[in-house]
Amino acid sequence: MKVETAGRDALLHLSAGGVSIVVDVRGGGLPRIVHWGADLGALTAGELGELATASLPPLVSSVPDGVVALGLLPEHSRGWPGTPGLSGHRGGRAWSPLFTVTDVRLDSAELGGHRLSVRGLDAAAALGITLEVELTAEGVVRLRGTVRNDGDQPFVVDQLALGLPVPSEATELLDLTGRHLRERQPQRQHFHVGTRLREGRRGRTGLDASLVMVAGAAGFGFRAGEVWGMHVAWSGNHRLYAERMPSDQRLLAGGELLLPGEVILGPGQTYAAPWLYASYGVGLDEMSARLHRMLRARPNHPRTPRPVILNTWEAVYFDHDLGKLTALADAAAEVGVERFVLDDGWFRHRRDDTAGLGDWYVDESVWPDGLHDLVGLVRARGMQFGLWVEPEMVNPRSDLARAHPEWIMAGGDRLPPPWRSQQVLDLTHPGAFDYLLGRLDALVTEYAIDYLKWDHNRDLIDGGHQPGGEPVVHAHTLAVYRLIDELRARHPGLEIESCSSGGGRVDLGILERTDRVWGSDCNDALERQSINRWTQLLLPPELLGSHVGPAHSHTTGRRHELDFRAGTALFGHFGLELDLTGLSVADRSRLAEWVALHKRLRALLHSGTVVRAEHPDPALLIHGVVALDRTEAVFALVAMGTGVTAPPGRIRLPGLDPVRRYRVRPLPPGDVQRGINHEPAPWLRDGEVTLTGAALATVGVQAPDLYPENLFLLHVAERPGEAG
Ligand code: GLA
Repeated sequence: MKVETAGRDALLHLSAGGVSIVVDVRGGGLPRIVHWGADLGALTAGELGELATASLPPLVSSVPDGVVALGLLPEHSRGWPGTPGLSGHRGGRAWSPLFTVTDVRLDSAELGGHRLSVRGLDAAAALGITLEVELTAEGVVRLRGTVRNDGDQPFVVDQLALGLPVPSEATELLDLTGRHLRERQPQRQHFHVGTRLREGRRGRTGLDASLVMVAGAAGFGFRAGEVWGMHVAWSGNHRLYAERMPSDQRLLAGGELLLPGEVILGPGQTYAAPWLYASYGVGLDEMSARLHRMLRARPNHPRTPRPVILNTWEAVYFDHDLGKLTALADAAAEVGVERFVLDDGWFRHRRDDTAGLGDWYVDESVWPDGLHDLVGLVRARGMQFGLWVEPEMVNPRSDLARAHPEWIMAGGDRLPPPWRSQQVLDLTHPGAFDYLLGRLDALVTEYAIDYLKWDHNRDLIDGGHQPGGEPVVHAHTLAVYRLIDELRARHPGLEIESCSSGGGRVDLGILERTDRVWGSDCNDALERQSINRWTQLLLPPELLGSHVGPAHSHTTGRRHELDFRAGTALFGHFGLELDLTGLSVADRSRLAEWVALHKRLRALLHSGTVVRAEHPDPALLIHGVVALDRTEAVFALVAMGTGVTAPPGRIRLPGLDPVRRYRVRPLPPGDVQRGINHEPAPWLRDGEVTLTGAALATVGVQAPDLYPENLFLLHVAERPGEAG
């Protein structure tokens, strides 16, 4: 690591991974970002200076007399008319700080990234600020602000948000919303003057959380159009916004949403906002690819092949019976499952979802000998063992709630509205924290548990700390992180899945300490095609749990062929969540083929570049994964509905090396052309076709005419020694 003190007058050009960021720290104020986006190539100091000058706007009428530059931390005191980056006060004063820079440090890491740290001070307001800007080797920008109270009276922090500018070409906004069973749905709009604000006030990341807020060039899509996206790495309340001023200054910004009085800094105390992640690309795929590569480069990214999972939830629900579970484990092992996860229903008083949360002891009435018989059997079949828990939750009908009603979150002398008959345990009570750590530690130790599915099935409403009712969402979120960190420190091999009624806790804060997320409680493959597609805006496939559910989906009432369900789950962290014991012999062996295919492909699927091609007919989705060395790829053509035309036309297969030659052929068992047309496309009759990457990306191949809610897989392999 090369550490430089860049000087308080620095104008810096950082570039890595195809991205440049130009930071202007001249003039004494906090940094201004001159450029964030495409790599600018080598620039001399003189050229950098010219660039910075060329980017300054002229004065117009009825504005402050000096240029109001948009800072990384927008300051009201400098005349920024939009949302200030820091808002807070000390007894009604020090509410509009004006920072001057005291220190600029630049570390250029050997791995090709950069870390810039700028410290500032407002002596009159008695506040210090630290802004960290990292550009990772993959081209992702990470940002964080920390504020320090230098006064001798408490300072109340209301908000600390940092922002990055986007150019005037970014005329459209995309963010995501969702609900239980249908997470991560895109919504687009024009980037109007004003603030497009997505707030999370649910105390968890939220089923409707946006994951990423994207600003982009008109008509941007997965493969084309410049895009700039931002994510808040935080599992509690948060804000993510895009703001445009009448001056046409535009930015993306984010931070934690602090409830009144949640952060009051005593003398010398600091508050660090969550990390923000920002990624640029030409097309959403390139933006995502940078994020995926950055995540994969983390030291804590899962390194072992992702074990194929059997989760018991949609197989048995609360009906825990050793005989039934034994048969299920036998069937799972037979089809190739590698990790058996016992879901909800194993602990005291948990016969349905109205009682028991908090009583983290194996239920003696259901499991007189504990879980040892089941765990032993699972291991004897060569599988890992996983267990479902929901540590932060408590049912009023539980021993725990009766013993410690004061540990339940409440904003006053009343309980928050019940939600799935449960309340939230306030982990800022040391007793509650210690109890949970003790129970989880004991269970993981006793059964040598490999994997916890860590659930969180309600919003935090009136998230107050008893007896006073002070808001505690911020401190509780940190306590949850501490709990997971401590458990993992005690059990370094333990893997954890972040589940929250499906995809309600999907963010890079929780993923710093967990190994995958559960994408949705909806295992309907049709819904999952779109949920997975959009969740992968942020996450690479190996971090996204995706299971083969029953033929009849209990969440939508739809029925789907096994091939459609399995071919959909194939691309994520693959699992099964159905009663295998009820399958026909033919279906079981078909499922075993899919499991085997996933095992064969997972090294590629979990390391390659995700591509999502657009087809003019929205009824046809195309997505795939291309190996990093572009020798191989797998694509899925998905008929989401009936097409407007028949046949659907050609499909382009992008992301390959334009000059290499590739053999394309259907990939069994995903090669069944279920459709009305018994006459396959001519190239499919021949079984394969060989084309260059350029031809596949620009001309493509004729798609088969599929029934709706079916898919077709293609395998693409470089023909050795045949570069065109
Ligand atoms: C939540 C989860 C499901 C399942 C149930 C069990 O809804 O998202 O996957 O674990 O809880 O109660």
